[in-house]
Amino acid sequence: MATSKPFLWGAATSAFQIEGSSESGERGTNIWDVYCEIPGKIAGQGTGLNTCDHVRRYRDDVALMNALNLRAYRFSISWPRVIPQGTGALNAAGLDFYDRLVDELVAAGIVPCATLYHWDLPNALQEEQSGWEHSDTANHFAEFSSIIFKRLGDRVKHWFTINEPWCIAYGGYIGGGFAPGIQDRARGFQVGHQLLRAHALAVAAFRSGGYDGEIGIGLNSEFMFPASDSKQDHDAAQRALLDMAGWFGDPVWFGDYPDEMRSAYGDMLPQFSDEDQELLTRSIDFIATNYYFSDVVRATPGQHPMAYERAPCPNRPTTAMGWPIVPEGLESLLIWLSDRYGKLPVYLTENGMAKENETVEDGCVHDPERIEYIRTHFEAARRAMEKGVDLRGYFVWSLIDNLEWAHGFAKRFGLVHCDFETQVRTIKDSGLWYADWIARGGWDAIESPQHLDLSSAGERGK
Ligand code: FCB
Repeated sequence: MATSKPFLWGAATSAFQIEGSSESGERGTNIWDVYCEIPGKIAGQGTGLNTCDHVRRYRDDVALMNALNLRAYRFSISWPRVIPQGTGALNAAGLDFYDRLVDELVAAGIVPCATLYHWDLPNALQEEQSGWEHSDTANHFAEFSSIIFKRLGDRVKHWFTINEPWCIAYGGYIGGGFAPGIQDRARGFQVGHQLLRAHALAVAAFRSGGYDGEIGIGLNSEFMFPASDSKQDHDAAQRALLDMAGWFGDPVWFGDYPDEMRSAYGDMLPQFSDEDQELLTRSIDFIATNYYFSDVVRATPGQHPMAYERAPCPNRPTTAMGWPIVPEGLESLLIWLSDRYGKLPVYLTENGMAKENETVEDGCVHDPERIEYIRTHFEAARRAMEKGVDLRGYFVWSLIDNLEWAHGFAKRFGLVHCDFETQVRTIKDSGLWYADWIARGGWDAIESPQHLDLSSAGERGK
């Protein structure tokens, strides 16, 4: 993308979290549908069957994006909506849905940015061939991706293959709090490995298809601050960054895992074939990362395989997720990624904060903490740009309150409030503030001290 293009001020969502699918036959079952059925896994027994009913209300939601002045929208495509069993028969109605969504965005002047996989693996692949542990799943993903490129590639120019492979592999297979809920480090590494192969194969399909546009993978990482000034803690913080950001960042740029991971984990970390390495090396056109908070790290020789221990930054206000608010960690993470991965263009693909029990009063949702969170993170990103980071876009998580995975519906991240019973949407104060920020020219608004007067927010929100 040429630098002269406008900065992509956007918001993000994912298919499972907003779409809903109450009519049978609308989409195939995914691994999160199954996980939601296990008692105790999802707070409040939430499911993805209705959530924001976006599939039916997408036109209203694009109108909301317009009201927010969004320049770009990052959404994900549900693989089982397009190919219910993961491979084989296509669901034409599912593919048509994304076609109409993209048309609607383009007509509204909003740049569509598509993620091909945001955690909702077709369950048939999990049951029949052990999901992401099986190398065939990577091939099936590349086939699915090719179908999407072919159908949407004339209008979508910004692609993300996989959202947060770290969360898929770590959350799903090591920590075990995410679908499919396994706790086994070796299996987690195998899943991570196949996710990387899947990314590489999809990128190869995109590039050989000659599409106009750019493609990358959606990383996530906390920034790791050393717990003390000691060299040991500094080195430990670097190892922690490599273990989280480098686990997926290094292979898609250098073609292999960080040396530090190889020597710590030994045979547990699978080997890439020569062909895999060739496809992986330089398989991103940009760096994309999500950022929410930061950790402090201390050296712990002989304990963790990589001899570190990390904990969320102490003594900070926290969000409803319990995550400390650390804007300067965003600045440091963007610089770290940009320095390590070739000073590529960067997109911040998710950032935002959860609140609990947000309610609509007189047509308003007052969320000054979220405005402050977003504003201070914008400023941190700006500082990173002043230090040379080529940031091209910033996507607030999330456009609208939605199903926050294992946390259910209680944690609300939206710029827009969703009443999940009535499906009424209400733009929060933060949404009005963001609309104003974009209208005033984004970064330029930092220099102008006045803040949006929200006293008439109710009227505007209606
Ligand atoms: C990220 C996920 C996204 C959302 C936010 C809060 O890890 O990518 O779907 O749940 O966290």
